[in-house]
Amino acid sequence: MQTTVADHPLIAHKLTALRDVGTDTPAFRSLSYELTVLLGYEATRGVRVEPAEVRTPVGAARGVRIARPVPLIVPILRAGIGMLDGFAGLLPQADIGFIGLVRDEETLTASAYATRLPADLSGRDTFILDPMLATGGSMEAAITMLLTRGAATITAICLLAAPEGLARLEAAVRSAAAPVHIVTGSIDTRLNDKGYIVPGLGDAGDRLFGTI
Ligand code: PRP
Ligand code: URA
Repeated sequence: MQTTVADHPLIAHKLTALRDVGTDTPAFRSLSYELTVLLGYEATRGVRVEPAEVRTPVGAARGVRIARPVPLIVPILRAGIGMLDGFAGLLPQADIGFIGLVRDEETLTASAYATRLPADLSGRDTFILDPMLATGGSMEAAITMLLTRGAATITAICLLAAPEGLARLEAAVRSAAAPVHIVTGSIDTRLNDKGYIVPGLGDAGDRLFGTI
């Protein structure tokens, strides 16, 4: 597994504001959008392209376009929805699937309540969006669903990650059939005894959408 910490000063600046307990929901949503665009630029560095030729007003120009089959973007509900507009703006050609996962806050085990994915992901680059990689249980479940369907590559974009979750994923995908790449804005210090990332930012879903 490849892990990239995109430690650009703009990302660090926006992450600091995102973490701030005084940041309200409208600002939290805007920052999540902006951070996803910045992390997404790094995460799409290896996206498959194919040669393309266009006519400029002056002549022919050789370039590239996103290869087919087009990539698949998969936000993990609920909090991943806060990253969807930013990432889909970078890759408007991509299809979008959905995985609904919720973590039991006692056992810290993730369970799926919704899955809307193509049955066959052969040859496709896939991008998972979830702001928080804590124990890694939710991300492991999502990665397993994409591997089962034959994804060619899996890139997960997380605003924050915990060392414990990254270690768990590293072990889980060691013999995976497809390369797995995690792109994050920060690897934080640790998890607390409730499975929250420290210093983290609290509950991402609640800060994006309110407590339910
Ligand atoms: C949060 C977060 C991740 C998960 C991370 O979702 O968005 O999906 O927890 O924790 P893990 O790495 O320990 O699995 P949550 O289950 O709170 O659901 P929500 O997005 O609906 O708020
Ligand atoms: N889910 C969150 O939203 N925040 C954490 O710190 C851990 C899991």
